[in-house]
Amino acid sequence: MSESRFTPRVFSGIKPSGGLTLGNYLGAIKRFVQTQDAGTHETIYCVVDLHAITVWQDPAELKSATREVAAGFIASGVDPERSVLFNQSQVSQHAELAWIFNCVARVGWMDRMTQFKEKAGKNAEKQSLGLYAYPSLMAADILLYHATHVPVGEDQKQHVELTRDIAAKFNHDYKVDFFPMAEPVIEGPAMRVMNLRDGTKKMSKSGESDMERINMTDDADTIAKKLQKARTDAAPLPETLEGLDGRPEARNLVDIYAALADIPPAEVLARYPGAGWGTFKPALAELAVEKLAPISREMARLMDDPAEIDRLLARGAERAREIAAPVLRETYEIVGLLRG
Ligand code: AMP
Ligand code: TRP
Repeated sequence: MSESRFTPRVFSGIKPSGGLTLGNYLGAIKRFVQTQDAGTHETIYCVVDLHAITVWQDPAELKSATREVAAGFIASGVDPERSVLFNQSQVSQHAELAWIFNCVARVGWMDRMTQFKEKAGKNAEKQSLGLYAYPSLMAADILLYHATHVPVGEDQKQHVELTRDIAAKFNHDYKVDFFPMAEPVIEGPAMRVMNLRDGTKKMSKSGESDMERINMTDDADTIAKKLQKARTDAAPLPETLEGLDGRPEARNLVDIYAALADIPPAEVLARYPGAGWGTFKPALAELAVEKLAPISREMARLMDDPAEIDRLLARGAERAREIAAPVLRETYEIVGLLRG
């Protein structure tokens, strides 16, 4: 299938299931902004509230987390004029297309999704049906806009591949060339930012201890304290990247530095040859504060005016519907759903 007939268009989303972390920023939002600023693609960014409710969310907290993620996007440089920025539930076409995809995707495909297995653990029976079907909704998010590129952290790669499987099966079953094969865009040192207390686990919004993550709302002192206390081994920084093999915590801090400074990890080692943690951690903390403190300040300023955030999201939803409605209409036509 030729992809050239599709407008180069980026879609990505973040769940409002708690505050934003440094993992969200480096693995996703920072790259959303770079793509928007490059100007080569239309950019559509979504606060995916329908995804968040696949696990229980307190209603009042869900609203405030939705605004907070939107504020995080804007404070980091997503421009609601140049990008389309909205929350998912305001564009009902997402849920409608997801239903159609539920009828295209196979149960066996869902059974292979590692994120579901990890989240569900031994309690798969007790999870919501929505959590199980989640990748089908994610495919709808992407394909509703005929998006060609999807910037995500590494944990989402399998879901974007499933999106391609759904697009291919739909096109094949209905003998059309309607949905594009969306490409995951996973690059840079921070595609997987790890937990500061255990370098084998990813940094997430929901870990037990606040010391294991950096929140986008943390103030300068908190950021510095968490990085100072980050777990490491006793050895100093090596000369080469290979020297970080088998040292996940050390590797993570070097990768975080690289992503914040926009340099390759090898260059971090060249800047701090053989440095001990007593030298490297304060340097990392200083860099992190320099990059993150202005964003958290701007987020706080935006959060002071929730009505303005709501207005921006409603306007973004209107623009999103202009793209989504014709795609859904045509999908209904292809499937043979009668419209008056
Ligand atoms: P979520 O918070 O699960 O909705 O994730 C939103 C986006 O942030 C997705 O693109 C994730 O892949 C990315 N992301 C979340 N946590 C991390 C992490 N620790 N490292 C890199 N990317 C992440
Ligand atoms: N599933 C993604 C996550 O947990 C969030 C998401 C939902 C998404 N829909 C999307 C990401 C569409 C990219 C494109 O991180």
